[in-house]
Amino acid sequence: MKTHLLAFVLLLGSLAFPLRAQNYAPSAENLKSRQEFRDKKFGIFLHWGLYAMLATGEWTMTNNDLNYKEYAKLAGGFYPAKFDAARWVAAIKASGAQYICFTTRHHEGFSMFDTQYSDYNIVDATPFKRDVLKELADECHKQGIRLHLYYSHIDWYREDAPWGRTGRGTGRPNPAGDWPSYYRFMNNQLTELLTNYGEIGAIWFDGLWDQDQNPDFDWQLPEQYALIHKLQPACLIGNNHHQVPFEGEDIQIFERDLPGENKAGLSGQDISALPLETCETMNGMWGYKITDQNYKSTKTLIHYLVKAAGKDANLLMNVGPQPDGCLPEVAVQRLAEMGEWMKVYGETIYGTRGGCVAPHPWGVTTQKGNRLFVHILDLQDKALFLPLEGRQVKRAFAFVDKKPVKFKKVDGGITLLLGEVPTDTDTVIELLLE
Ligand code: GLC
Repeated sequence: MKTHLLAFVLLLGSLAFPLRAQNYAPSAENLKSRQEFRDKKFGIFLHWGLYAMLATGEWTMTNNDLNYKEYAKLAGGFYPAKFDAARWVAAIKASGAQYICFTTRHHEGFSMFDTQYSDYNIVDATPFKRDVLKELADECHKQGIRLHLYYSHIDWYREDAPWGRTGRGTGRPNPAGDWPSYYRFMNNQLTELLTNYGEIGAIWFDGLWDQDQNPDFDWQLPEQYALIHKLQPACLIGNNHHQVPFEGEDIQIFERDLPGENKAGLSGQDISALPLETCETMNGMWGYKITDQNYKSTKTLIHYLVKAAGKDANLLMNVGPQPDGCLPEVAVQRLAEMGEWMKVYGETIYGTRGGCVAPHPWGVTTQKGNRLFVHILDLQDKALFLPLEGRQVKRAFAFVDKKPVKFKKVDGGITLLLGEVPTDTDTVIELLLE
């Protein structure tokens, strides 16, 4: 009798919450897609929205308390005449990046795709009238590069979006909003994104932290996550909430810091067993900022990518496209230079995992089976001790020309005898382990 009652209660529960992702068990497709994601190692983030026109970054609307109705008028003049998805994808592929993450709707609330759930979108509200996401998706599928979609949980434009910590000065009338209406809207849009644009590699959420002063706020994530996995089981879910991953998420995201570091103040959370990704800006801003020409050097960007790989994480490097639809010239140049490097050294990055020697100030290691790649990034010495803890080395040689590198066995590992102080962007020594 008791077991019958229990079964009845469980049945009732499952009827009431049919889409709950509690006890989330990722599908086989999803697990496969996680491994592929880990192998890809390098992606390009694209922050593009109406904010590109104001050219002061994607937070301008809230930073300057711009009235939402006035801000929306930007759409009437948005005509990115030079937008060419084929050129974007080609420039990004040239960098060696293996996926693109595109902002479909950022905090400003403007949809950069054709949606029937709001007229405030690039097809209905601009003279451009083109679904840039469709063009980008088609081009990604054609050129064989995976597409991820950024989707904000925040909306500074919609009156039904409950106010959070940001966007309070944009003149929207109703602080409480109408959560059921806004939640339905988001799920409808997510359904469009996962139905109309072919295979999507990941949904990349952002903005949960907006309710950090309201800890009881229920974002109803389990149902939303279950919806995504139902529509595309292989689609990975990541959420830039700056915490350890929640149930139903497939990757762990870090912002502006390598896993385990916290220089930007947004990280420091524990590192999970899920695939890792960290995002960083190429200059100092995500959205296009006209006054920011302070691009990181190609060497710095390569070092960041290598260090991420050494921590077993992917790097998602951002570019903010211009209002005319072009990628900034300097960014394109950096992408090309990274690509030149990846052509030679990609084998020591793609498909690797963080190596058995932990990261050190001199650099990091990556590994594929018994091949250990020692990436020397910053060493003022001709010798380098590697704590290999019992692992034997069969051979050591320079990755680039296969010339043997001398080494001697010492307590706890080996010392590489490099002959000279390494000066390359990244001097890669390959070790064959027993
Ligand atoms: C932050 C910002 C946002 C940016 C994102 C990228 O959370 O709110 O503007 O899109 O980081 O990581």
